[in-house]
Amino acid sequence: MSTNLARVVPALPLPVAGWTRGTDVVVVGSGAAGLMTAVALADAGRAVTVVTKGALGDGSTTWAQGGLAAVLGADDDPELHVHDTLVAGAGLCDEEAVRTLVAEAPAAVAHLQGLGARLDLDRTGRPALTREGGHSRDRIVHAGGDASGAEVTRTLGDALRVRGIEVLEHTAALDALLSADGRVAGLRVARISDGALVDAGDLHARAVVLATGGYGQLYAASSNPAGATGDGLALALRAGAEVADVEMVQFHPTVLWTGPGAAGQQVLVSEAVRGEGAVLVDADGRRIMLGAHPLADLAPRDVVSATIAASLRATGADSVFLDASHLGADFVARRFPGITAACAAAGFDLTREPVPVAPAAHYACGGVVADLDGRTTVPGLYAVGEVACTGVQGANRLASNSITEGLVAARRCAALLAEDLPAAAAPVPPRGPVDAVDPAARAEITAATTRHAGVVRDADGLAELAGLLGGLPRLIPGAALDAATVETTALHTVATLLTAAALARTESRGCHRRLDAPETRPDWQVRLVHRLDRSGSVHTRTEPVRLLAAAQVVA
Ligand code: SIN
Repeated sequence: MSTNLARVVPALPLPVAGWTRGTDVVVVGSGAAGLMTAVALADAGRAVTVVTKGALGDGSTTWAQGGLAAVLGADDDPELHVHDTLVAGAGLCDEEAVRTLVAEAPAAVAHLQGLGARLDLDRTGRPALTREGGHSRDRIVHAGGDASGAEVTRTLGDALRVRGIEVLEHTAALDALLSADGRVAGLRVARISDGALVDAGDLHARAVVLATGGYGQLYAASSNPAGATGDGLALALRAGAEVADVEMVQFHPTVLWTGPGAAGQQVLVSEAVRGEGAVLVDADGRRIMLGAHPLADLAPRDVVSATIAASLRATGADSVFLDASHLGADFVARRFPGITAACAAAGFDLTREPVPVAPAAHYACGGVVADLDGRTTVPGLYAVGEVACTGVQGANRLASNSITEGLVAARRCAALLAEDLPAAAAPVPPRGPVDAVDPAARAEITAATTRHAGVVRDADGLAELAGLLGGLPRLIPGAALDAATVETTALHTVATLLTAAALARTESRGCHRRLDAPETRPDWQVRLVHRLDRSGSVHTRTEPVRLLAAAQVVA
């Protein structure tokens, strides 16, 4: 397939750079993947500058409740973790990448502990393990009960500070600086001050590592923090990189439902609550997951979200309910202190009553095409963590494989760049058309994407969405670029690719569910890979999935 599907912004109208500085590696983003990359690079003697658009640690990692998946239990086996990941991934995983992830996950957890992470331990002093959806064994390492991500951020943030690594907070990464032969040679950045971009400058570097997270804010309700707007994916695409699997947006099944007007980041109720025995019921108290999947309430996340969506369609209700009341109030409050408190703040008592929940956007399975060493299709540009699409997550990420992937990829990417830093390249002034999407269009983009490209989709809705995205107003030529315009342009880029891919993929698989094409089709066991040309036209091709001998595992 190589059709012109849609058009997006090919380059931003950049503010003039007032300064230039050099470093070995620029890391963009300060979640688990970015922080671990920076720490490991510094330990290898590389000069690193971290650029992050909020404060250090403002990314999605801090909000992660569940934990990190790793084979550590006496009854567990790497083959089981591989198998569970491939099954959840619904045929789109890259098996070699999955095997690498599983093999290196225990070392990544040990590295984190070595840096001082205070994991929850069992009576023998080893990491306590719990279970989440799609896992056949207890293998989720956690911290602070339900504050695993916050402990990862604290640990890596402290490690960064101890090493004196330079961090540019409240700084936007705008576009890559490219050499004449198309290599990434640095970044144009600008400080964000009250939404304006000020003090723009150029960071020259031999490698740029994107660790910018996902794009949950493309949807009205999400578990993601405000910064998850797909900036890194859009930047990479504009730099010439390929992106893939963008249509595979994972919806978390149990996000607290607080009413139809709820917008922005919502309270996540961890899958680990179901791992400890909570169940999903409808308004009449009927268990909706019984009979829907052999693993019932612990089915892979795409199955649970789709089953909830079907229940809501059938009943006309806005939410289903998560019932943990039979687990004992003391146990629930002790094991999940943060979630219990967040539910209480919204007026619900998780320890004693079923609480209303509904699916909300949670994780981008797709992203910038990269291997687990972070190499993208553009020399000098690397991507690790949620912004990357390594094939580990396939069409639906297995629970708690994400921080694990971020740490494994970060360690590998740092090892690669410690050993073999690309030669310095001289950036050339950007050429070609520039454009940006009017930030006033943001609410329309999120409302329409939520309506037409959510848990379930169909051709009519997606075609309407594609038409709307194609006709949105652009920034008035000459108007100053600001932070809201950068984010809105990124959201428009991601929405456009997502819609094009979701329209093209005439089947249902993993996180992509078409009401008008409900079957999983063997001929669609391919990935949709996109790239931009200089004018901003999107070109899409299909690529076979790399499977080893274990072959075609589909849930
Ligand atoms: C959760 O705690 O349910 C989220 C974990 C994850 O997304 O992997």
